[in-house]
Amino acid sequence: MNYGLTQKPNLSSSECLVIGVFSDAELSDFALSNEHHNLVSRLIKKTSEAGDMQWHHALDGSLLIIQCGEQTKFTPSQLKKRVTEITGALIKHRIRSATLCLPQITHYSADWQLEQMIVQIDNQRYQLLDFKKKKAKPHQLESITFYLPNASEEGLKLGQSIAAGVELTRHLANMPANICTPTYLGEQAMQLAKEFAQNMSCKVMGPEEMHQMGMGILLAVAQGSAQPPRLIDIHYKGADDAPPIILVGKGITFDSGGLSIKPANAMDEMKYDMSGAASVLGTLKACALLKLPVHVIGLIASAENMVSGTSVKSGDIVTSMSGQTVEIINTDAEGRLVLADALTYAERYQPKFVIDVATLTGGIIVALGTVASGFMTQDEELAQLIEDAAKESNDRVWRMPLDDDYQDALDSPLADMINAGFDRTASSVTAACFLSRFTEKYRWAHLDIAGTAWIFGKNRNATGRPVPLLTQIIRHALNSR
Ligand code: BES
Ligand code: MN
Ligand code: ZN
Repeated sequence: MNYGLTQKPNLSSSECLVIGVFSDAELSDFALSNEHHNLVSRLIKKTSEAGDMQWHHALDGSLLIIQCGEQTKFTPSQLKKRVTEITGALIKHRIRSATLCLPQITHYSADWQLEQMIVQIDNQRYQLLDFKKKKAKPHQLESITFYLPNASEEGLKLGQSIAAGVELTRHLANMPANICTPTYLGEQAMQLAKEFAQNMSCKVMGPEEMHQMGMGILLAVAQGSAQPPRLIDIHYKGADDAPPIILVGKGITFDSGGLSIKPANAMDEMKYDMSGAASVLGTLKACALLKLPVHVIGLIASAENMVSGTSVKSGDIVTSMSGQTVEIINTDAEGRLVLADALTYAERYQPKFVIDVATLTGGIIVALGTVASGFMTQDEELAQLIEDAAKESNDRVWRMPLDDDYQDALDSPLADMINAGFDRTASSVTAACFLSRFTEKYRWAHLDIAGTAWIFGKNRNATGRPVPLLTQIIRHALNSR
C-alpha cells in the first residue's frame, strides 16, 4: 500500500477524489475548476447527516463527497467513523487509488490525524487470503494520497511504519496454529532480523539451551506438545551503549489449557495466544522502519500448551530459572509460566525497563472488555509513560492494581508459590503478582491484551494492538530516564 501527501488535490490525479465537508463551514478551495466546484457544492446539498455520501462518476475520475457534520463535533472518534465509511466505499467500488481531503480536527496536530488515518485505512484493507482457494477477492486499493495542509513527511513516515508493524502482527496472529508453531515464530523473527540486518540481530534457542539455563517452568508448559519450545532473543540496535528497553511477549501458539482443559467452544481462538509475541515483532519492525535511535530487545517465550501423556500435571512442582519453585495447580495458567523464565533471562541485559505483553487472563476481558488493555506496574514514572503513549497513539489502556496484599493468593503449602489463585477473584491481578516475583531486578510493567489483541466471534481477526502503543512508548522513552 502506498501513502503520500499532496498540496494540490484535483480530480484527475487519482481514480477517486474524496472530499469531506462540514455542514457549517465553507468548502475549502482546492485546485478545482469552477465547474467542479459547482458540482461539489451541488452534491453537498444532497447530504445531511454526518456519514452521508454522494458519488459522482465522470470520465476523468470519480468524486465522493462525505458529510462530516458540525465542525465542533468532529472528534477523533468521528474521524475514525468517516475513514471507516470512506475506506469501505473505496474497497466496495474496487477503486485502486484515491485522494483523500478530510478537514482537520481542532486541538490535534495534522501529523497525529495523518497517522490515525493511515493506521485505520491499512487496518481495513488488510485481509488474509493465504488459505482461500475459492472466491479469493483481494482488495484493489493500492494508493492513498492525503490532502492535509499542515501534515509533514515525518507524520507520513510514522503512520506508515506503525501500519507496517500492525500488519506483521496481525498476519502472524491470524496464522492457524498448525502453521504458526514456536519453530515458525523463531523463523519469522530470524527473517525480520535479516530484512533489517544493518541494525537487527536474532538468536533462537530450543529445549537444550533452556535445560542448560534451568528454565524449568517454560519447559514444563512445553513438555506435553510434539512442538519444541523456542526462546527468541531479537535485538534492534539503533543506538550504541544505551541500556535497552525490553519487550517480553507471550508466545503460546495454541492454548488448549493442558490437562486443565478449556471448553470446546471457541477454543480455536486460542491460536491467538501468541498475540503478545506477534506485537513484539511488529513493534521492532516499526522501530526499524523509523530508524529510531534506541536499543530495543524483544524476548519471546514460545510453546504450545497441549494434552498428552507427557503433559505437566496439576500439582506438579517445578523449578524456575530464578530458582523459585512453582506448584502448577492449573495448567491453563501457562502464560505466566513461560513469561517468568523469559523475565529472569531479561536480567542479563540490565534494561532501562521491561514491559511484558500477554493475552494473559480472561479476567481482563471481564473487567475492561475490548476497549482498553489492562496494565499493572508499581513504577509511577513508567505508568505515566504508558498512559501518555496510550493517549498519543489512541491505543487505550487502563491501570489495574498491583498491591502486595494481592500476593497472598499465591501462597503454596509445599512450594514457593502456586501458579494461580484458588478462585477466580482478581485473576488478572494475581497473574501480574505472579510475574512481579520474577521482575525484582529492574523497572517493569505488565500489559494484559487478552481483550484487545483480536476481535472475538464469527469474524475473528487480529487487531495488531498494542503495536501503536508500544511504538509510541519507545518513541517517548527517548526523552525519559
Ligand atoms: N490465554 C488464556 C487467557 C485468555 C482467555 C485470553 C480467553 C483470551 C481469551 C490464559 O492462558 C488462561 O487460560 N488464563 C486463565 C487463568 C486462570 C486459569 C487462572 C483464565 O484467565 O481463565
Ligand atoms: Mn491458558
Ligand atoms: Zn494462554
